[in-house]
Amino acid sequence: MGGLYYWFGEDRTKGLDPTKRYVSCYSSEDLADWTFRNRVLQLADPEGLGPSWVLERPKVFYNAKTRKYVMYMHIDGPEPGQKGGYNLARVGVAVSDKVDGDYQYLKSFRPLGHESRDIGQFIDDDGTPYLIFEDRPFGFRIATLSGDYLTVEKEVCLVPMHMEGGAVVHHDGLYYAIGSALTGWSPNPNKYATAKSLAGPWSEFKDIAPPETKTYESQSTMLLKVVGEKATTVIFMGDIWKPKAQWDSRYLWMPLEIGDGKLWLPEPRPWTLDVKTGVAKVVE
Ligand code: GAL
Repeated sequence: MGGLYYWFGEDRTKGLDPTKRYVSCYSSEDLADWTFRNRVLQLADPEGLGPSWVLERPKVFYNAKTRKYVMYMHIDGPEPGQKGGYNLARVGVAVSDKVDGDYQYLKSFRPLGHESRDIGQFIDDDGTPYLIFEDRPFGFRIATLSGDYLTVEKEVCLVPMHMEGGAVVHHDGLYYAIGSALTGWSPNPNKYATAKSLAGPWSEFKDIAPPETKTYESQSTMLLKVVGEKATTVIFMGDIWKPKAQWDSRYLWMPLEIGDGKLWLPEPRPWTLDVKTGVAKVVE
């Protein structure tokens, strides 16, 4: 969209109406300087889930046919009659005509009838959109969306690993999937696997960083591929959660060492990226 990157995230700013959940949108030309665009979702409890309802991990897809921006999100809350917890395990869908417009909430459902907690977004090089979702009893699933993107259509793979914060990138003819262990807001050693096809078979999962660093205190959320004139850089995007001060949570974004079936998250350091050439430079 006009050479701009857009970034969406849970907005947990202090002082907002505690009965609502918020998503905000930012834009950038270079992935370094960001401009706040709009609080694109300001949602009151959409389905009578009660005061502890949850909206997490918003992801926006653009559907060129319908010209709609379609947001998926994790919607959760307690079962009726219970107090708290993540028991509904659904995805919510909202749409907008503008990338940074006010999104209209449509519905929630369990994708293909399965539990869905953390979600991830993957768009392949041919433009096919996929939703990655954690299905607690089984592992995580990768599935395609319907033509209008408003529902989850077909499962491509069930990866029988209990992982969340799932993310996928297609790099040099190979798919790389990463995810974190199920330790709530606390960081853990994130892992990756590779496959020639999204449908698998997937390799064994291996550490992406020295396990004792717990992914440098972060949790995977997305892999962003920047294809430039000279090089391709894949950025690891992770959340550094502050559960007791969620509004002050941070990101870890680092260029990955990736290729030939290997993926490694180097020790965090300042770095620069030229989005035109695709060249990332870590400050030594
Ligand atoms: C994490 C998950 C977050 C949030 C948190 C709640 O495991 O990745 O998105 O749901 O648990 O404890």
